[in-house]
Amino acid sequence: MNLSNNLKKILIIDFGSQFTQLIARRVRELGVFSEIINHKIALKFKFDKADCIGIILSGGPLNVYQSNKVKINKKIFKLDIPILGICFGHQIIAKEMGGKIKNSKYREFGLTAVKRKKKSLLVKNFFNRSNSSNVWMSHADHVSRLPKNFKLIGSSKNSKFTIIENINKKFYGVQFHPEVTHTDKGKVLLKNFLFSICKTKKNWSSKKQRVKITQDLKNQVGNNKVICALSGGVDSSVVAQLLNKSIGKNLTCIFVNTGLLRKNEEKQVINTFKKKLKINLIYVNAANQFIRKLKNVDNPEEKRKIIGNLFIKIFEKYAKKIKNVKYLAQGTLYPDLIESKSATGSQTSKIKSHHNVGGLPKKMNLKLIEPLKFLFKDEVRKLGLELKLSKEIILRHPFPGPGLAIRIPGIINQEKINILKEADNYFIEELKKNGLYDKIWQAYAALLPIKTVGVMGDNRTYEYICLLRAITSEDGMTADFFNFDKKILQNISNKIINNVSGINRVVYDITSKPPSTIELE
Ligand code: XMP
Repeated sequence: MNLSNNLKKILIIDFGSQFTQLIARRVRELGVFSEIINHKIALKFKFDKADCIGIILSGGPLNVYQSNKVKINKKIFKLDIPILGICFGHQIIAKEMGGKIKNSKYREFGLTAVKRKKKSLLVKNFFNRSNSSNVWMSHADHVSRLPKNFKLIGSSKNSKFTIIENINKKFYGVQFHPEVTHTDKGKVLLKNFLFSICKTKKNWSSKKQRVKITQDLKNQVGNNKVICALSGGVDSSVVAQLLNKSIGKNLTCIFVNTGLLRKNEEKQVINTFKKKLKINLIYVNAANQFIRKLKNVDNPEEKRKIIGNLFIKIFEKYAKKIKNVKYLAQGTLYPDLIESKSATGSQTSKIKSHHNVGGLPKKMNLKLIEPLKFLFKDEVRKLGLELKLSKEIILRHPFPGPGLAIRIPGIINQEKINILKEADNYFIEELKKNGLYDKIWQAYAALLPIKTVGVMGDNRTYEYICLLRAITSEDGMTADFFNFDKKILQNISNKIINNVSGINRVVYDITSKPPSTIELE
């Protein structure tokens, strides 16, 4: 199945910027399909004018004169396709067209004002009445000589050629990042590029995705059987519902309760998928098996491995009971397929081994179907709502595969799990009551393995510490802690202490990511 078949697209050539995925998301938010290709792959890529309506060159950590590392398919400049270069991409256009790039005396990082020098289709409605616009910069090099036949459209204090254009060739360059939200009118600029310069039409919406994916699934799967591991999370829920709509009873979902889920989560999953949506659902309550295997294990990576391996074993056992299955459906997302970091050849170091169902069925000889593999998380959420899944499922905060096990540092036991489920539930309920749940990207309670002294009534207590974590984020790669009103935090703390026996102290985690991670283990 290939969602991108027959879709006109904006191709984004990635030079390793941390913002490349954001460019693709912004283009899609404007209703136009976009795909990312690594600059090394772009070297041999056959750009087809009928299919590619515009090209965006991303930013990146390199210097345009590092010829051994910067590989650019020069043919793109001869295709008669509009090109927009962003930051490093802007410098590439300038260099390739005969301009010069220099290392700046002053780096520009953060918000900078750009002043209008000339009118251009690219900057229609971009500048304010004083001919200025605030943009987000992150560069050391800058264009020091304008290429022939290019015009200067905008300048900042430390970079004269901040916005440039060659109107005949339809080549445009901006030194700043229109894709980040800090750039005031970044979306306006991208919109101008798409609709006024590339003259694209909208071809990307949740409805179009639903129609195309369900049709493609029908064509691909035919009358064959499919199994799917359902976790109750957004991705697997959307995959299950897409298959349900496409192939109905030929789908069987397997839901393994690890005993490490949030309070009442298993009931909600069974209620939604089995009772309401009438999906074939095999429910396996394996809570005791997981707790037995995790006995006395305190090492985070060991915990993750034990949970991942046992999950696979149980899933396989039940999958084998279903006869004549040909496919396994997985909720792989687009970011899983893109290797943005490889532009510099550097590997990001492994911080935690994330356990997903991915790669699970090698032994089982099943063919994979990945209906979400061209979608970003926010697109999956919108598609879920389009598929009439409840907001409760779709807008739910992310939850890690190893579940509560990595929210109880150190050794786990049933008592700790029970305490944590209650505390977490009170926390989340309070967030919902105060209208904060949807403003926060992820929130949870954790149980620290330390007991401290407290006083309740006139009695001394000696109980666990509950840690609260609530963060804002775009994609989970970086995060800031959420700024609560003191009263709300106070209220949450009271609720937990008064209602959950086993906890006598509540603390709030005020670290961002980096340096911390979102989960504790
Ligand atoms: P960290 O802790 O690495 O988490 O900052 C980033 C995001 O990933 C989630 N997470 C996981 N998700 N399996 C998952 O499916 C895992 O093993 C796992 N570990 C962390 C985490 O909840 C956060 O949203």
